[in-house]
Amino acid sequence: MLTTDVLEEINVKGFADEYVDPTLDLYDEIEKLKKQKNAVILAHYYQEGDIQDIADYIGDSLGLSQQAAKTDADIIVFAGVHFMAETAKILSPTKKVLLPDIKAGCSLADSCPPHLFRKFKEQYPDHLVITYVNCTAELKAMSDIVCTSSNAVQIVESLPPDQRIIFGPDRNLGAYVAKKTGRDLVLWNGACMVHEIFSREKITRLKERYPNAKILAHPECEETILQLADYIGSTTGILNYATKSPSQEFIVATEAGILHQMVKDNPEKTFIAAPPNNTCACNDCPHMKRNTLEKLYLCLKNEMPEITLPANIIARAVKPIERMLEISAQLGL
Ligand code: 13P
Ligand code: SF4
Repeated sequence: MLTTDVLEEINVKGFADEYVDPTLDLYDEIEKLKKQKNAVILAHYYQEGDIQDIADYIGDSLGLSQQAAKTDADIIVFAGVHFMAETAKILSPTKKVLLPDIKAGCSLADSCPPHLFRKFKEQYPDHLVITYVNCTAELKAMSDIVCTSSNAVQIVESLPPDQRIIFGPDRNLGAYVAKKTGRDLVLWNGACMVHEIFSREKITRLKERYPNAKILAHPECEETILQLADYIGSTTGILNYATKSPSQEFIVATEAGILHQMVKDNPEKTFIAAPPNNTCACNDCPHMKRNTLEKLYLCLKNEMPEITLPANIIARAVKPIERMLEISAQLGL
């Protein structure tokens, strides 16, 4: 439930600060600890390559939630950010959920403080609240249905056409869903710091150099970027599109970590990270990249930092997440 601001203010390191012998084979050590403790490592595609390579499951937010809900491991090491680990804890409250660096937050989740969202929601008493999974547990507890980038359109479409809807916290995903479904959504004005930095001019120039390249974009990008895209989807959607496509070149407008898996699955194809504007040097998410292989090893060894949530928040937040999982299962997503 902590926002990045609060996490930053905590005057302690966000991870077990311990010397790690550089001669240790961390892959071996992590494998041993995993077996010994019956732990599973779930990693998002935006994690560094080493972490993706040691993970038991890599996926987008929907896939990771589905895995967290069904795992029989005693410990879930969540290599992702705080809201993702919280979601795993909500779905598996009796399990120990660890996050390699507890300060791995999310600018999008931070853009929607729960006390302000509560006031916003009060202005629309006859609206149903759909929240993108990239938000705090407290926000989920105020929602009717949670969604991810891979099911947001279908979840809105599953509701009666006259149902009024508030969508938050991502205004870009919300605007994309409104356009795809033709529905008039009331949007919260939040955004992701990584997906807002792409330069339309630079992507257009790149396309001149690579005229055959397909442009793949995440729906958290602004409308001006989405207009250029040949395909719009979640990280898993983007990866699957690139793998199935006969095209050989791709310009990828999302966090750069996804390129690791794209190159691994398609070594013969060329993937180019979409260029950011002049205010940024790269497309890395500073929150996702707080996790490292060393921190993952220490977190599994010391079983901390651990995600804990009040029981009343878990009890309320689990309902909209389960509703999302049920709708996704019915739709075969
Ligand atoms: P997906 O992997 O679900 O597309 O989410 C992207 C994201 O921004 C996660 O922080
Ligand atoms: Fe949050 Fe954006 Fe980073 Fe995803 S990429 S964790 S939405 S800041």
